[in-house]
Amino acid sequence: MKKSDIGLIGLAVMGENLALNMERHGWQVSVYNRTVIGIEEGVVDRFITGRGKDKNFVGFTELKDFVQSLATPRKIMMMVRAGKPVDELTDQLLPLLSPNDILIDGGNSNFEDTERRIKYVESKGMRFIGSGVSGGEEGALNGASIMPGGSVSAWSEIKPILQSIAAKADDGTPCCDWIGAGGSGHFVKMIHNGIEYGDIQLICEAYALMKNLLHLSNETIATHFERWNEGKLKSYLVEITSHILRQKEADGTYLIDKILDTAGQKGTGKWSVINSMELGMPLNLIATAVFERNLSALLDLRREASDVFKRSPSGKQFDEQTMVDQIFHTLYASKIVSYAQGFNVLKQASEQFKWQLDAASIARMWRGGCIIRSAFLDNIASAFEKSPSLSNLLLDDFFHNEIDEALPYWKQLVATATMEEISIPAFSSALNYFYSLTTRRLPANLLQAQRDYFGAHTFERIDHERGQFFHENWTGHGGNTSSGTYNA
Ligand code: 6PG
Repeated sequence: MKKSDIGLIGLAVMGENLALNMERHGWQVSVYNRTVIGIEEGVVDRFITGRGKDKNFVGFTELKDFVQSLATPRKIMMMVRAGKPVDELTDQLLPLLSPNDILIDGGNSNFEDTERRIKYVESKGMRFIGSGVSGGEEGALNGASIMPGGSVSAWSEIKPILQSIAAKADDGTPCCDWIGAGGSGHFVKMIHNGIEYGDIQLICEAYALMKNLLHLSNETIATHFERWNEGKLKSYLVEITSHILRQKEADGTYLIDKILDTAGQKGTGKWSVINSMELGMPLNLIATAVFERNLSALLDLRREASDVFKRSPSGKQFDEQTMVDQIFHTLYASKIVSYAQGFNVLKQASEQFKWQLDAASIARMWRGGCIIRSAFLDNIASAFEKSPSLSNLLLDDFFHNEIDEALPYWKQLVATATMEEISIPAFSSALNYFYSLTTRRLPANLLQAQRDYFGAHTFERIDHERGQFFHENWTGHGGNTSSGTYNA
């Protein structure tokens, strides 16, 4: 029997659709699903006789047979839940593999786990790829954004398969390219997800203003999002928002008004923030988005607090078009800030972990297939193509002009929303980041003085070279001993 080009393990939503996508592109695919009696019994059979019927698939319920069915060097894509299942599966597979075989983890794994797995699998003579795959069910079937990193020599061998199943940007480029060594593929996917959290929060704030301040109907709000989707805010998330707002129940009422306002999360946003802190890079907007999900989940506390503190808006009427324009510019400028922060984290990680990430290539890969796909990723790609070492996206000429244009609307909207007591944490976080970033002298001089006053933590002086540290005897009775000057 002809050996398969690739094997896929895990026939849940993403795995099943990726397998179908591979087969459609001419690859013979072996599929395996761990069979747990009573829970996942018959998954492989169901697939082979269902969506996989009369197609170029070979199904297995024995791991050994599955491995034997693959052409060498074997390529095995694991689409199982992140965490322990990946380690368990890797341990079951390794004794069955031959040198140079390639394991690909396509789940949302933590990049540090991926780093550890690469070392482990390479120490056994095989290769390991940690690949972000974005696009949900639809992307998996019809073209995802795929971000592979890990054992470098494996790239040329998996490239034809992965690029064939990737989405294609408008210019035809596959939304899949080599990210870099180590856990870089999963790190980039993690930041993609963090940015996704930010984009979603920003859209929610735009919705809240149109609903709670302008008192617009779901239909009208949907129309505004639809219109925005034709301009520079064109993006998948803006597009689906207008569909969501129009979705009706059987009785003609809007579904959106019945959905409980409490958000879930699977962890990649939180990891983005934890890692940004480890790298010492501000990721304010995404952090705000994660904390807002946390706050939304504290439903009982919010209900109690909203009974205790009553809102007192001014009762003013706001002109719809004027305010919708302000929201549009604010959403756009805040999104620019969010991506500027996200790309700065990528830059820092690249330097720290020696990944040599190509920011322009990453932006290009996110133009199609993934959840954050949007028109303005083209502008981001151009900015980094023009200047690969750009220190912050806001300093690029194009984005500089965009921010200048948006600023009058942005600050007016943040002021109005604040006075009208509408919560817009991400819009105002973005504005404050912009103000801090562009402030030549921040009040951190006072901060350093306080640290030195209470803990002899020392400070640098504007009238001395950087790197010289001073301690003041602030009270006259403190000692002259200062503490170390290390930074965590
Ligand atoms: C993607 C998504 C996906 C993510 C879900 C849910 O790129 O296709 O990012 O990987 O798991 O969107 O994420 P949360 O449950 O954390 O919101």
